[in-house]
Amino acid sequence: MKSTRVSGGGLLAAILLAVFALLFADVQDAQAEYGDVVINNYSDKAGMRPVVFPHWFHRIRFRCKVCHADLGFKFKAGGNEINMVKIIDGQFCGACHNGDIAWSVENCNLCHSGKPNTPTQVHESTIQKLAIPAGPAKK
Ligand code: HEC
Ligand code: HEC
Ligand code: HEC
Repeated sequence: MKSTRVSGGGLLAAILLAVFALLFADVQDAQAEYGDVVINNYSDKAGMRPVVFPHWFHRIRFRCKVCHADLGFKFKAGGNEINMVKIIDGQFCGACHNGDIAWSVENCNLCHSGKPNTPTQVHESTIQKLAIPAGPAKK
């Protein structure tokens, strides 16, 4: 009897965990989809404003695959070691921001638009604020 109860509880816990994991996976995508990604590995140090990448704005124009497979953007804020040499060479943002698919690199301030000293992060959004306290405390 006792052991049945214990394993029943264990099963319930496992199901709850699985549900939480699913919810949390969705939340991760939602953050990236709706939030802005601030990229500041080098900008502040170079005297430029941090870069703000509006993920949703791009997401409604292109499929995930275009950027995260074809262009090789890793799924991690700040995880790509982007610099201007690479961009001018047509990598990362420069695959599109070349005056052809989108406006070109001379528009510094359109990308370097963050508040100085904002760290690399997925910028706060309503979704992120609501979601974090509900999920398990790991990230
Ligand atoms: C299409 C978007 C975009 C435009 C336009 C752009 N940048 Fe950048 N830039 C980036 C990104 C992304 C990074 C990497 C940010 C980081 O990690 O701090 C970066 C990094 C830099 C850096 C630090 C790394 C390095 O290459 O030395 C400097 C300096 C810089 N940009 C200057 C400029 C200047 C000057 C202009 C205009 C002539 C410009 N950027 C236009 C996206 C852009
Ligand atoms: C136009 C290009 C583009 C498209 C399309 C795009 N992404 Fe992204 N994504 C990025 C860039 C750029 C970053 C930030 C990378 C960096 O900071 O170096 C990013 C970051 C992310 C992150 C990491 C955020 C974090 O928490 O660190 C996730 C997750 C993500 N994207 C998911 C998606 C999904 C899912 C789709 C499709 C529904 C998608 N992206 C479509 C460019 C794109
Ligand atoms: C797959 C193509 C693609 C890639 C990669 C891409 N962009 Fe864009 N981006 C666009 C297009 C298209 C527009 C819309 C241009 C227009 O309206 O003329 C745009 C617009 C923007 C805007 C203006 C958004 C607004 O509200 O008007 C910013 C800022 C921007 N991109 C930053 C970046 C940065 C930073 C990166 C690299 C981290 C990047 N983009 C990578 C295609 C791309």
